Amino acid sequence: MSRAATARVYAQDTPFAREVRTGLAQEQKSIPCTWLYDRRGSELFEEITQLREYYPTRSELALLRDHLSNFGRDFGKHACVLEIGAGASRKTRLLLAALRAPYAYLSVDISEEFLYEALQELQSEFPEVRCTPLFLDFTEPSALSKIGQRLPAEGPRLGFFPGSTIGNLDPEEAGRLLSRLGSVLEEEGALMIGVDSTCDPKVLLPAYDDARGVTAAFNLNLLVRVNRELDGDFRLENFRHEARFDAEHSRVEMHLVSLLPQRVSVLGRTYLFEAGESIHTENSHKFSRAQFLQIAAKAGWSEGAIWTHPDSGFEVHVLRRLRAHPPLPIKRN
Ligand code: AVI
Repeated sequence: MSRAATARVYAQDTPFAREVRTGLAQEQKSIPCTWLYDRRGSELFEEITQLREYYPTRSELALLRDHLSNFGRDFGKHACVLEIGAGASRKTRLLLAALRAPYAYLSVDISEEFLYEALQELQSEFPEVRCTPLFLDFTEPSALSKIGQRLPAEGPRLGFFPGSTIGNLDPEEAGRLLSRLGSVLEEEGALMIGVDSTCDPKVLLPAYDDARGVTAAFNLNLLVRVNRELDGDFRLENFRHEARFDAEHSRVEMHLVSLLPQRVSVLGRTYLFEAGESIHTENSHKFSRAQFLQIAAKAGWSEGAIWTHPDSGFEVHVLRRLRAHPPLPIKRN
């Protein structure tokens, strides 16, 4: 068998291949948003966070700058910080600098190279903190038990889940993740989490379809990845990025819309597209405060401090663990 053919056989059985195959066979074609983050995708997302139109990062950074020093003073010494979906770690710096003698920092992200580089920089800035990378898809049910095994037993545990990444899950998935995080962070643990509740389409649509086209490039990069890793033949010029606001589900959706009727082949299978048909690539839920607190309570977390940005309404919650809360049942979508 040729090397290309062997590579194709091997690629057929990766989680990426399975999810793309399943997603493209559905009536509403879709690919889960975790696959947006190869190296280039992570770089483009980092660029998005600096765009004028993309308010969540700016708002959250302002909230952390305003509130972290008081929080750090009150939170226990020698904390173990667990960050999920860490990305470029700008916010982590602020958190580690505010805590009193943090003991360990465990960083979980799906983008291996990107996380490794970010963590090396962080380790040299905070040499006294034990920094450990963990390359995992944290939405996988088994991921959090692997994380639990790597967390040191010493010190109070603090989960850090910034960026409103929780919104990339639907309310049920979000509840299951919060529940699993609760088991890992244990009884005295706390969870600092960013939540976006903006629901004005005039603010949301430019944030997810910016004038410079960075979000479009981020979305279209998924097709580049499929072509490269799954032997696809998507022609990028035949698709366009679209951001839609779904008021009923209070979420922004990203789609890749086919500009014409076409056939595309991925791992030897052919998929037909009509003109205007799309691949749904991301949901970004905008949870109201009440809805988020209800999801958190069901997952065993109680309301703690809430920091609200005065302009955008973006919030950072510091949730506290409810004692001895049973985990929500594991269910794979
Ligand atoms: C990572 N996540 C919280 C971002 C969001 O806002 O949903 C991803 C993103 N997609 C388009 N722009 C940013």
